Amino acid sequence: MTRKIVSSGNVSGNYGNARCDLRATLGSLEIPSAILTASGCAAAGRELDNYFDITQIGGIVTKSIMLAPRSGRATPRMAETPSGMLNSIGLQGPGVESFIENDLVWLRQRGARTIVSIAGGTAEEFGKVAAKLRIAGGFDAIEVNISCPNVEDRGQVFACRPDSAAQVVQTVRRNSDSKIPIFAKLSPDVTDIVDIARSVSQAGATGVSVINTLLGMVINTTTMRPALAGVTGGVSGPAIRPVAVRCVWQIRSALPDLPIIGMGGIRSGHDALEFILAGANAISVGTSIFNDPSAPMRIQTELQQELASRGFTSLAQAVSYAHREADIASMEEAPSSAAEDSETEWDFISE
Ligand SMILES: Cc1cc2nc3c(=O)[nH]c(=O)nc-3n(C[C@H](O)[C@H](O)[C@H](O)COP(=O)(O)O)c2cc1C
Repeated sequence: MTRKIVSSGNVSGNYGNARCDLRATLGSLEIPSAILTASGCAAAGRELDNYFDITQIGGIVTKSIMLAPRSGRATPRMAETPSGMLNSIGLQGPGVESFIENDLVWLRQRGARTIVSIAGGTAEEFGKVAAKLRIAGGFDAIEVNISCPNVEDRGQVFACRPDSAAQVVQTVRRNSDSKIPIFAKLSPDVTDIVDIARSVSQAGATGVSVINTLLGMVINTTTMRPALAGVTGGVSGPAIRPVAVRCVWQIRSALPDLPIIGMGGIRSGHDALEFILAGANAISVGTSIFNDPSAPMRIQTELQQELASRGFTSLAQAVSYAHREADIASMEEAPSSAAEDSETEWDFISE
């Protein structure tokens, strides 16, 4: 049985008594709410629409689509982890042509704002997917999932090297309508995520989506074998949230004007607020959807209340608020006991 949540307000920002404008501007993409779904966690939005009106959130980010149909990786491909999950679904999907005919047409008719996530095994494949989408039209932006193995480079993940990440973005940019915003989805499994963000930005990305899952592994102690058939998988959920917030913070510190979509373990409006304060202009909700399909709508309402209760009249006012000078100064003047407690952290931050 499905239950549909009816919004207690509207995306222009009136939820109960809490008034706050949730609009987000991501380069040329303007959305009436900064709350999106995360790729791979809401398919193309059809099932979620049974739980809430998907036109009332900022938009749907679709499961990454490739050129040809794919069946994904062998099962088992899900395992539980403390405060999260491990998955090795792989890029299962119907291929871009079927996606355009079925999902994209449905999303357009439904009136949902749509960010199409694309993937590929070579830069050329990314380009071909983008070219087919350009012909089809009817979507608002592209998210480029560069966390896939490059079949032309010993399976090295594109997102792990600034040059291969940039090459994919350049190819997608060349094959897309020049007005279409492009977001590069970055992997946290790198030494310096700022390097990758800078590189994709110079290659023509409008902004970045951070973060994709972290590479992880679980051993089944009954079979005494890896829990996943694919051995390793991606860790998601609340366990990765501090890593994600750190990535958003570092990119925002280095690239003050780059649009950022933040994600990783967001379960509540309070969690979403952390990302906004760290520098995200919008956020995506992923794993939470699996145990609460109405999570994006609930989080939207909660974020509105979190912002309003802190005196913000718009989400834009809160973006990067944690970076403000006064806070750093007051933390440096912290009482000595607090300073001692956080000695290691300060050593790291001041590097
Ligand atoms: C089951 C599953 C499938 C996913 N599929 C994709 C995908 O197709 N493309 C992509 O860019 N990210 C994919 N992701 C990553 C999410 O979009 C998101 O970046 C990550 O899970 C962190 O957010 P979360 O903790 O809120 O889930 C997937 C995550 C999960 C859990």
